[in-house]
Amino acid sequence: MVLRAIDTDLWVAEQPLRYFGLSIGTRMTVIRLASHELVVISPIQISEALVGELSELGPVSHIIAPNLYHYLFAADFKAAYPNATFWATSMLRAKKPELAIDQVIEDDSSSPWEGIECLFFDGFKTLGPKGPDLLDEWVFFHIASRTLILTDTAFCFDASFPLLTQLVTKVGGSYKSLSPSLLERIATTDKEPVKASAQQVLHWDFDRVVMAHGSIVERGGKQQFQRGYEQFLGHSL
Ligand SMILES: [Fe+2]
Repeated sequence: MVLRAIDTDLWVAEQPLRYFGLSIGTRMTVIRLASHELVVISPIQISEALVGELSELGPVSHIIAPNLYHYLFAADFKAAYPNATFWATSMLRAKKPELAIDQVIEDDSSSPWEGIECLFFDGFKTLGPKGPDLLDEWVFFHIASRTLILTDTAFCFDASFPLLTQLVTKVGGSYKSLSPSLLERIATTDKEPVKASAQQVLHWDFDRVVMAHGSIVERGGKQQFQRGYEQFLGHSL
């Protein structure tokens, strides 16, 4: 099986991924709406097995590239499901005009997906080869399962990852705790917009946290998120 059910109407699928030589894996999330349509967030490589399993769950109607980085497999998904709406951030549309993006997730809109809330995580950066670069990430809350869905705004690695990944993330602060990476904490010098976004995330009543890289936090995710973002939140909570 490619897909793994983690709650009612909520699945994940993972594939290996190396980043700067580290095995960090990547994960997509699938949510089934009340209409039975499927929302795919941060798609992984599509395969016959994955298509077969998805077809058992419902029609893929929404494909979301949630930030400036997690779009690599979205185009293949869109090709496989041409009737689905391909959602992305406005900056991704500008960065990759060749992508068949159907809709931009808007700042001022209420969520277009019933049962899912979304929020633009403002001002958060990572350190790329060319210096600090915005992630431009939307984060999601699946209300029914009390699950926060992040992509690159936090990581959480553990002993299930190779030793080198464990070592590096122990230094970086996202080993066995939900936290932005060291690179992100260094790159994000303007803390105010991040603080405001993190505070908004904390208004959601979540317990589980799914992120694209690392192990899912099944319980106590809100406390872990708050601790992980302490550097940005300060003591004003
Ligand atoms: Fe990522």
